[in-house]
Amino acid sequence: MPNNDLAIVILAAGKGTRLKSSLAKVLHRAGGRALVEQVLRACAPLKAKKTIVVVGHQAESVTAVAEPLGAQTVLQQPQNGTGHAMKVAQRALGRAKYAIVLPGDAPLIRTETLKALLATHRSAGAAATILTAVLADPSGYGRVLRKSANAVSAIVEESQLAENQREINEINSAIYCFTLQKLWPALAQVQPNNKHRELYLTDAVAVLAAKGETVLAQVAEDSREVLGCNTRQDLAAVDQVFRQWKRHSLMDSGVTIQLPETVLIDPDVTAGEDTVIEPAVQLLGATKIGARCVIKSGSVLIDSTLADDVTVEPHCVVVESRLESHVIIGPFARLRVGTHLKTGARVGNFVETKKTVIGEGAKVPHLTYLGDAKIGAKTNIGAGTITCNYDGFHKHPTTIGKNVFIGSDSVLVAPVRIGDGAYIAAGSAITENVPADALGIARGRQVTKPRWASKKRREFSAAAKKRK
Ligand code: UD1
Ligand code: MG
Repeated sequence: MPNNDLAIVILAAGKGTRLKSSLAKVLHRAGGRALVEQVLRACAPLKAKKTIVVVGHQAESVTAVAEPLGAQTVLQQPQNGTGHAMKVAQRALGRAKYAIVLPGDAPLIRTETLKALLATHRSAGAAATILTAVLADPSGYGRVLRKSANAVSAIVEESQLAENQREINEINSAIYCFTLQKLWPALAQVQPNNKHRELYLTDAVAVLAAKGETVLAQVAEDSREVLGCNTRQDLAAVDQVFRQWKRHSLMDSGVTIQLPETVLIDPDVTAGEDTVIEPAVQLLGATKIGARCVIKSGSVLIDSTLADDVTVEPHCVVVESRLESHVIIGPFARLRVGTHLKTGARVGNFVETKKTVIGEGAKVPHLTYLGDAKIGAKTNIGAGTITCNYDGFHKHPTTIGKNVFIGSDSVLVAPVRIGDGAYIAAGSAITENVPADALGIARGRQVTKPRWASKKRREFSAAAKKRK
């Protein structure tokens, strides 16, 4: 159901000084996406009338992430604090009744928690409802001062805590629901009374409470959801939670993950039932894995599609490739962009492929480079085969038919075609097409000189005696 009286405001203008980075804070990544994208995705199911992202530092880059996700951006220049950011968004908010306000640097927030916050706010008719959390280590966060069981009197920033307030461990998540008609006059009274001379949105909470308005606190059930990313250590901690959630969801759907803490999986990755993922594997981008696959240790798969029953032996790197069912690759195979292995094909160790189709049941067992090549079904490519696809200016294709046998250590100088059922003698440098069922042989003839070696040894030892 759409929430026509609701707007979302994401505060994302800050630089993120504590990250010590040339990249604006909300563009840093956790769980495989930019922080601001994670927040936008959590908000999307609320179906708010409007979503506004307040941008400032690297506004263009932040806008490029936010707009495709349906948000509108407003520019805050300079950045005079979270309260000022909210004022900048006022005009764009128009006549929305409620706003859920979120910082762009707390990406673990879940939709369900936001729905619950909104429900509490609406049913109490509150002026503000603050999402809080109880943390074992509250340092770095604003603290919540309560005046009764669920009513708040103020939020005090860490830098302004009195000695006796330091032990308060209920923190402000900086995620709030406001009734906008009440917020604007309160915000107008806020002064920049802090060492940064900024307008703090948190101070509007004390103004509302002092006026006798209802200000509620709702404690997040899972305190990890509110973790903010102010430092590199925060980013690592938050990334860890996202990765764990992703692994858990795959495990819940029937995937085995061994030593799960060592496995990194991006959010859009899918895997089928009874697939096994061994330790230290990375599954990245839009990778899709079928059922009953095994991905062994140290392999990295990026934007690739694997059908059912595929085996990836240890230490393979697979990028933008397609592996049909019952394919086996590795160990130590490198499949580059545009590799397509048809059913039952086998690519072994120290094989590199690029823009190459390998037919059903074909084998490339060892030490080979195939680029811009087409290999027919059941063909065998011997160890050390190289397609010379590049002449220094252009790339050229190599086409090999089905049931072909390429002898070891052959170079195939493209463009070149080898017909079905042909043989290439080991050690050949093939520069011309070889028709079907023919033998292609292109190497110097062997010369054997009887007793040459023993004669040479005698000469050498005689010369050595003379020198003594
Ligand atoms: C803020 C809260 C703090 C809370 C914590 C939770 C204030 C004053 N403090 O502190 O109570 O415990 O979040 O994570 O709000 N931003 C702007 N414009 C600005 C300043 C900031 O858009 O002028 C944005 C930032 O890009 C960021 C968010 O607001 O996404 C929060 O700012 P940040 O500097 O991270 O505030 P904290 O110190 O974390
Ligand atoms: Mg922060």
